[in-house]
Amino acid sequence: MTATVISGKEVADDIRAALREEVNGLKQHGILPGLAVILIGDDPASHSYVKGKIKGCEETGIYSEVVYKEAAITEGELLDLIEAFNENPNIHGILVQLPLPAHISEKAVIDKIRADKDVDGFTPVNVGNMLIGNDCYLPCTPHGIIELIKRSGQEISGKHAVVIGRSNIVGKPVAMLLLQENATVTIAHSRTQDLASVTKQADILVVAVGRAEMIGAEYIKPGAIVIDVGVNRAASGKLVGDVQFESVKEAAGYITPVPRGVGPMTITMLLKNTVEAAKRLAGLPQQ
Ligand code: GUN
Repeated sequence: MTATVISGKEVADDIRAALREEVNGLKQHGILPGLAVILIGDDPASHSYVKGKIKGCEETGIYSEVVYKEAAITEGELLDLIEAFNENPNIHGILVQLPLPAHISEKAVIDKIRADKDVDGFTPVNVGNMLIGNDCYLPCTPHGIIELIKRSGQEISGKHAVVIGRSNIVGKPVAMLLLQENATVTIAHSRTQDLASVTKQADILVVAVGRAEMIGAEYIKPGAIVIDVGVNRAASGKLVGDVQFESVKEAAGYITPVPRGVGPMTITMLLKNTVEAAKRLAGLPQQ
């Protein structure tokens, strides 16, 4: 069997086209959705992600402001910057690119972002609301993954979903969203014993481990939906996922590529949250 490749880029383009129309409509009502992005330090991957986010804003007509600061910025200075965006009426969404330098507390920074401008869905209020199924800003990568699975035309309800990885950004929240979609969910991680025996039960396998091409065909149940969240630079310089694409494609039923898989969906869900935030803050009904 050769898997159907789920193009995150194509799905993302569709959603962005709809968002562009929605933003045009909002502009007619005097509402211009605005996103503030704060990037600390010179990590090349973070710079590349932020570039993609700003380009996404430009494509959809969303106003964006980016603040670049050197890694030597103090925690207090960063918190003041966030506070200014919390109070800025032109800004509806605030994103602080992670990871942060070691001397800055990630918790203090996330806690500082107003929950109703938290378009990353990282604040405890949003995470709690997501957990109990309340309306909230969903975290972008997990939300993008759910949309990709749905757009593949495959049912989530009743399936066994295995998530490898337990980060706050991807593993834990995607497991919760899959549960909300009525999947039976297993979370595997670096201490899981006999990983392949667990993943071979997966109808849906989400891989978010951050290790280049760790998952080969021997981990896959034939016909499974395989979602690869990894973005790694191989020794050759090529971008690769956490999954061995060529061999796993021969075992899986559906597979996301790297690049042009989950990545474009993460950015698109951020744009969607920013538009929702603008509507919410203007008192308009949400989707
Ligand atoms: N670093 C890696 N992924 C993300 C993300 O989705 N949001 C933020 N703010 N930082 C990240």
